[in-house]
Amino acid sequence: MLRLTQAVERLGTESAFQVLARAQALAAQGQDIINLGIGQPDFRTPDHIVEAGIKALRDGHHGYTPANGLPVLREAVAADLEKRHGAAVDPDCVVVVPGGKPTMFFAVLMFGEPGAEIMYPNPGFPIYESVIKYSGATPVPIALEEEKGFAFDADTVLGQITDKTRLIIINSPANPTGGVTPKAEIDKLVAGLPDHVAILSDEIYSEMLYGGREHVSLLQYPEIRDRLILLDGWSKTYAMTGWRMGYAVWPEALVETVQRLCINDHSCVNASAQYAGLAALQGPKEPVLEMVAEFDTRRKFIVDALNDLPGMRCADAAGAFYAFPNIEGTGLSAAEAQDLFLTKAGVATIAGTSFGAWGEGFVRLSYANSLENIERAIDRIRGVL
Ligand SMILES: Cc1ncc(COP(=O)(O)O)c(C=O)c1O
Repeated sequence: MLRLTQAVERLGTESAFQVLARAQALAAQGQDIINLGIGQPDFRTPDHIVEAGIKALRDGHHGYTPANGLPVLREAVAADLEKRHGAAVDPDCVVVVPGGKPTMFFAVLMFGEPGAEIMYPNPGFPIYESVIKYSGATPVPIALEEEKGFAFDADTVLGQITDKTRLIIINSPANPTGGVTPKAEIDKLVAGLPDHVAILSDEIYSEMLYGGREHVSLLQYPEIRDRLILLDGWSKTYAMTGWRMGYAVWPEALVETVQRLCINDHSCVNASAQYAGLAALQGPKEPVLEMVAEFDTRRKFIVDALNDLPGMRCADAAGAFYAFPNIEGTGLSAAEAQDLFLTKAGVATIAGTSFGAWGEGFVRLSYANSLENIERAIDRIRGVL
């Protein structure tokens, strides 16, 4: 009989992919399913980006690139970050990887081992807890509360740090809640962060903020640059989830280690995708702005509509493209609500518990779907409630 490692047995998953498979199976049986489960923009990658990828293939970019990414792309990432966040970035500290996820995995592999503690947001992106457990480190949840707009509270985070804490993961704007942490809390966290703790700031939704809010990047704090891993990428901003393009800015002292991880894991990112990513950064910004404006329209609709449903209340979703309503008033658990909405209303949503224990009493609805479909989905949910 085959015996798997304990580490692999501890690895979790992202249930959005399972819900997607279930929704697709129901659709294949002829059911009309509206998918508000999946976390990816429902827009095509802008044409000029697609063309750049095709051109790169035609021009013969078929081989390996440097493990950390094409120099011209790393320079463009540094220039883009400087423009967006007003913070200078050394292109040699930028490491391009296939999507947002590899940076999380690599950061946790660097700091996680039995005896170490890693803090992560809960409810939060499920891969954080999964890979922390895989590493053997103890996952220490940072509880995010509805009353605080799902922003973290710096005093609570700092109070949970011990001499075993090696890494803190934060994510703003956040998946699954849409929460955005105010600058005052980030200032306080940075000021109190002990020297022995690294911080992974997952800013993959940095360009998706609403209501005139401005993104606060951890890059804007020079005092923690020697401990900061800044994660961002192309997946959400440029509707490029399937291209597998992401990057991180690493502390100079960790660049060699992360490059070794890249070489062991994937050698380099697909060359033509890197040229597409370059076109995304250097090309017109209008397609991104139009997409974000469309998300904002849907966001306003869905938050109001959810607040109007019996037994539900929904906090203002300030960023990303998710609404995270409290469903306690319906008398359903998160898993029951997910199941009922899918099987009886034909609407795919994700139980809050898929994002950690603190997600009980909530479901996630992605508004990366047309306004028309969102309206139909709300009507159907109202029907089953
Ligand atoms: C908070 C967060 N970080 C990272 C990712 C991963 O992005 P990618 O598809 O580029 O790996 C996601 C995707 O849903 C996310 O929600």
